[in-house]
Amino acid sequence: MAGIWLVTGGAGFIGSNLVRAILAKGRPVRVLDNFLTGFRENLAEVLADIEFVEGDIRDLGACRRAAAGAEVVFHQAAVPSVPRSMEDPQTSFDVNLAGLHNMLTAAREAGARRFVFAASSSAYGANEELPKRETMALEPLSPYAAAKAAGELFAAMFHRAFGLPTVSLRYFNVFGPRQDPANAYAGVIAAFASRMLRGERPTIYGDGTQSRDFTYVENVVRANLLAADAPEVHGEVVNIGCGEAVDLNAMVGVLNRILGTALAPVYEPPRAGDVKHSLADIAAARQLLGYRPTVRFEEGLRQTLGWYRWAIETGYGGWAKK
Ligand SMILES: NC(=O)c1ccc[n+]([C@@H]2O[C@H](COP(=O)([O-])OP(=O)(O)OC[C@H]3O[C@@H](n4cnc5c(N)ncnc54)[C@H](O)[C@@H]3O)[C@@H](O)[C@H]2O)c1
Repeated sequence: MAGIWLVTGGAGFIGSNLVRAILAKGRPVRVLDNFLTGFRENLAEVLADIEFVEGDIRDLGACRRAAAGAEVVFHQAAVPSVPRSMEDPQTSFDVNLAGLHNMLTAAREAGARRFVFAASSSAYGANEELPKRETMALEPLSPYAAAKAAGELFAAMFHRAFGLPTVSLRYFNVFGPRQDPANAYAGVIAAFASRMLRGERPTIYGDGTQSRDFTYVENVVRANLLAADAPEVHGEVVNIGCGEAVDLNAMVGVLNRILGTALAPVYEPPRAGDVKHSLADIAAARQLLGYRPTVRFEEGLRQTLGWYRWAIETGYGGWAKK
């Protein structure tokens, strides 16, 4: 029997999209999740096709149970929020770094042939140079970003010291279906889309000139699948973005245009730990993984809005009530 493809954090936004893509490849999927920010509902129609391990990555025993027989591990589980890590740095450290270490240990013991780590562009932090290249100095501005940056070092070390074939994918602001807009720390597109679909004004922290390389989730999922099989990436760190920056004021403009609305943002003071601009250089992803973004920003936004409209109408995840 073919080895298991394990997705930690598989009940979350990116993880649940990845699970569906792996199933479509015909691979056996196992998920490890504790539902901290994920939902069983995110896996509803595929639950019968996967193995589900309910457990916490802070528990090495749970990681070992989940990794047994794993051929490939996609480590998505995290407390994935800058503001939340500023409020509770200890939990961020325990889950995002010690939890990663547990999964690396379990994957090594299981003899996995590839470990793909969900790293983050937030690791670049205060370094203002643009576009962001993998070789630049990392200057994390939050416990979350520091844990993700340190996580890359641990992933690379597990390759050099213990021969576990790891690769870290530095995601840039991912958005798309199943991103939870009700979470107080929601991704900005999820929050804006769900508010504006209800005719409510979006809240921008700062003056709205901050920009991001917004990346539709399908691109990130494809990058993960490429990373599972790419031969030359052991111990590497690779940016995964679109290579295009959009500022928040412009993003609200595009949302208004697609929705046929004219909702002006409400401006609030900037949030601690947030970076001003972010834009990926994706040359390494092209070269090492054969990656290129296939769904561009506006097309991704249309698909995302369509999905949130459906989610609100059907009461998916209880979001309509929140
Ligand atoms: N969404 C983005 O823009 C973005 C950008 C950069 C990196 N990332 C990384 O991608 C990964 C997935 O993020 P997401 O946006 O899908 O977030 P998400 O919150 O939807 O998914 C995270 C999942 O991890 C699970 N989880 C949390 N703590 C856990 C624990 N202790 N044990 C087991 N499971 C646990 C949650 O229940 C959830 O299902 C994270 O590692 C995140 O840091 C995301």
